Amino acid sequence: MPDKLRVGVVGAGRWSKSAHLPGFARSPHCDVVAICDLDEDLARDAAARFDIESVYTDYEKLLARADIDVIDVCTRGGIGEKNNHEPLAFAALEAGKHCLCEKPVAHDYRNTWRAHEIAQAKGLKTKVGLTFRYAPSMQYMRDLIADGFVGEPFIFNGYEQNSQFISPTEPVTKVDLIPETEQEEIKVSSIEGYGAPIIDISLWFMDSPLKSLVGLLYNFVPYRTMPGGGRIRANIDDGDVYIGEYSRGGFCTIQSSYVTVNISRAGGAPVRLAGRVAMPLGRGAGYARGAAPVNQPGRARGRVRRGGDTGRVLSARV
Ligand SMILES: NC(=O)c1ccc[n+]([C@@H]2O[C@H](COP(=O)([O-])OP(=O)(O)OC[C@H]3O[C@@H](n4cnc5c(N)ncnc54)[C@H](O)[C@@H]3O)[C@@H](O)[C@H]2O)c1
Repeated sequence: MPDKLRVGVVGAGRWSKSAHLPGFARSPHCDVVAICDLDEDLARDAAARFDIESVYTDYEKLLARADIDVIDVCTRGGIGEKNNHEPLAFAALEAGKHCLCEKPVAHDYRNTWRAHEIAQAKGLKTKVGLTFRYAPSMQYMRDLIADGFVGEPFIFNGYEQNSQFISPTEPVTKVDLIPETEQEEIKVSSIEGYGAPIIDISLWFMDSPLKSLVGLLYNFVPYRTMPGGGRIRANIDDGDVYIGEYSRGGFCTIQSSYVTVNISRAGGAPVRLAGRVAMPLGRGAGYARGAAPVNQPGRARGRVRRGGDTGRVLSARV
């Protein structure tokens, strides 16, 4: 692998400009040399702001470049186009590029494993954009668990809640989360779009897959206004909860919604892990507005409660 990686970014929208491109710009390990978006104005604007040499509207032209090591897939599908990342991630791997891909890689998890297998066979590195685990308090909580400070981990609780889709009259901004036509069965939305980083942290903290779960997908806001003004019946999960049992033992509750008050005024998703001896509390966060680092020390705070056999509870900020 070269000392400095050359990166091509696909997608020049909100998250690309507020998190991915500022993150790459701060890293001494890479240079973003090309940006691609279907909307050329967006791509040109990103190129001007982040000093990127080449602009494309066709990702195949980007992939054809032999001097690019890493492809970053930071796109979002249009109406009814839910599988937007999957073809781009597969194309990047097939072209022999390392790949950073925003979640979800695919809507069928078996296809994500297939992408992993292609990468392994070609000696390529992959990463999914699950940023919450890089918040300082999440890293510290994970160290406390790994070092045995928490004792045997028993119960994980995580919540990711915000209010961005609460209004039935404001036009939705993220149309890929909305089914194109009325659905009889509820369609997965919040748990995938907003629950994903918390699911990631729960599996990482407990160092175990789940062996069983029971959950509820719920539709609180039945009608929504589309960008063009039409009102549609959107039978999507805008709230959800599940209880999962880990293969190693212990269980979790995970809850997400984008139609409720934000559970944490300062943003981020509260998580806690109750062990035999201690219970660290923290907040996963993936925000990087402007040039603020995703894992800027001090942005994420938390507390540890430690009691153990003595029943004495100690609290400390982390
Ligand atoms: N990890 C996190 O915490 C986090 C937070 C926010 C968003 N995201 C993810 O980031 C992604 C982008 O979100 P966003 O809010 O920036 O969306 P956005 O709609 O603002 O931007 C997406 C851009 O992708 C472009 N695009 C779509 N298909 C393309 C293609 N085939 N080739 C080139 N360009 C294409 C669109 O033209 C658009 O400009 C989403 O997948 C979202 O889930 C992750």
